[in-house]
Amino acid sequence: MSASPLFTPATVGDLALRNRLVMAPMTRSRADDAGVPGELTALYYAQRASAGLIISEGVFPSAMGKGYVRTPGIETDAQVAGWKRVADAVHAQGGRIVMQLMHAGRISHPSLLPGGALPVAPSAIPPKGQTWTDQGLQDMVTPHALSTDEIAQVVAEYRAATRRALDAGFDGVELHAASGYLPEQFLSSGSNQRTDAYGGSVANRARFVLEVLAAMVAEAGAGRVGLKIAPEMGYNDIVDATPQDTYGHLVEQIAPLNLAYLHVALFGTAVDYHGLLRPRFKGAYLVGGGLDQARAEALLGSGQADAAVFGSAFLANPDLPERFRRGAPLNAPDKATFFAPGAQGYTDYPALG
Ligand SMILES: Cc1cc2nc3c(=O)[nH]c(=O)nc-3n(C[C@H](O)[C@H](O)[C@H](O)COP(=O)(O)O)c2cc1C
Repeated sequence: MSASPLFTPATVGDLALRNRLVMAPMTRSRADDAGVPGELTALYYAQRASAGLIISEGVFPSAMGKGYVRTPGIETDAQVAGWKRVADAVHAQGGRIVMQLMHAGRISHPSLLPGGALPVAPSAIPPKGQTWTDQGLQDMVTPHALSTDEIAQVVAEYRAATRRALDAGFDGVELHAASGYLPEQFLSSGSNQRTDAYGGSVANRARFVLEVLAAMVAEAGAGRVGLKIAPEMGYNDIVDATPQDTYGHLVEQIAPLNLAYLHVALFGTAVDYHGLLRPRFKGAYLVGGGLDQARAEALLGSGQADAAVFGSAFLANPDLPERFRRGAPLNAPDKATFFAPGAQGYTDYPALG
């Protein structure tokens, strides 16, 4: 039997990975009300440290970026200290971990934000739908459209968050520009109807993401910064009129930044985005979205990807690489405990004996 390409080492920017299995960023809603991850979170990630690389759950760079109850931040000293325990626990197992910076933008709710503030967005266009708050499901609201000065402030917050992620001992940072959150709200024509330099043309709509990435690179160095996109995912009421142009342009424009990696998650689109995007990107190309072992090995074996990103399979199988190596059966993920507080469905998935 030929060796699986999943288990060869890889270089991703400045990071040396022991295998090509990446744990996907997954919000788990186990932080306290101050956005601080606790001991249980350190255990959860340490259990999964045999991944070549862990991408953390989405972490808000500033309190205005918080999108869901019990999600963690990287703004206060207590949050940094909480994340330091996580990074140390992963490193103690020989693992690597980057922090995903996630600003929810208009997919937030006043009940989650300082002083009951309105969520922010490129334009004052409410997303359709409801969001889960401590008061139950509530309609999403019309957001405050950021002024150009306020945009510069948000970019600076991403930069400061990058600094703090590194201070906490993380190996790098990933910009979450998918799932309908703030960066994708700027990229997409349905949520961005600005008439200044941040809206209108594809080039203008890409400007915010490019400025945030440049700020993250200025702080961490290019070899420790990655970008996640998910063209046409449609999640959180996000629509773009010309996604192939938008993402083609974006990936072309990030070339001079020399990012460590581009992480592309695809969900059932008919368009060959990997064919479109990969030739435009020189760094490591990470593919995710509905993979199983066979599909991941085919992608790596044919050179279509440099690493394979697994979400729910890693959530439910702390020792996923070992299970793939042995051809062992997988635990099934329990959706009921994805976002529920406590250890159940978090740190109690069994590893192989
Ligand atoms: C419980 C859960 C939480 C998620 N939270 C995030 C998140 O915080 N950031 C993100 O970029 N993607 C998030 N995702 C999407 C995953 O990163 C991944 O793209 C998705 O699960 C598809 O991969 P899979 O089919 O291997 O599970 C989440 C997925 C799940 C199942």
